[in-house]
Amino acid sequence: QEETSVEEMPTYVVGTEPTFPPFEMTDDSGEIVGFDIDLIKAIGEDQGFNVEVQHVGFDALIPALSSGNIDIIASGMTITDEREKEVDFSEPYINAGLAVAVASDNDDISSMDDLQGKTAAVQLGSTGAAKANELKDAGVLSEVKEFGAVNVVMMELINGGVDVVINDLPVTESYMIQQDGQIKIINDQLTSESYGFAVRSGNEELLTMINNGLQNVEEDGTYDEIQAEYFS
Ligand code: ARG
Repeated sequence: QEETSVEEMPTYVVGTEPTFPPFEMTDDSGEIVGFDIDLIKAIGEDQGFNVEVQHVGFDALIPALSSGNIDIIASGMTITDEREKEVDFSEPYINAGLAVAVASDNDDISSMDDLQGKTAAVQLGSTGAAKANELKDAGVLSEVKEFGAVNVVMMELINGGVDVVINDLPVTESYMIQQDGQIKIINDQLTSESYGFAVRSGNEELLTMINNGLQNVEEDGTYDEIQAEYFS
């Protein structure tokens, strides 16, 4: 029986915006790690492909995929109808949703009803940005500041540059721990969203591999191991 060596396997370039712990972040040695990264690597191992991880701005991921600079988006990306027009998504691999956060010493805002005239920071191109702009258009928020990286979004909140942050709950929770309680979450989830891996529109071969691999790692316990490592 012949074994396929690692060198013979195809390599797919995975694009991610790594300020999104625990899904994707940079470790002390500068390497991009996280739940999404381990999961797509495990899927590649199951399906016989290698992955090379590349840092791409969140709002540049879909253009990078469409132009062929990357092959897969693994970036906590929510499956939306709008994005489905431009890319093909895998089956959902995890659920999350948006939450509103404020600085811990903010006693002014304790629910969605307190957002009138307030300012928000969000990540450029995210579903949080879409939600914030919706609230601004409805005359609720007075200003929305958009930043490329989520750590900058959180710093803006901590430094008092804005009143609230609208961002995915598990990620905000992760920053809450990192920032030693300088951030608090004011209410339950605003939305319920599912994350998917994305491939170029029509790239059925790769999409099938990702979906088959996802199903296999879910069935053989690998998915649970990865989840236990990043969500404890
Ligand atoms: N789930 C949100 C969205 O799809 C935010 C994702 C941000 N991901 C990241 N790696 N920065 O818009």
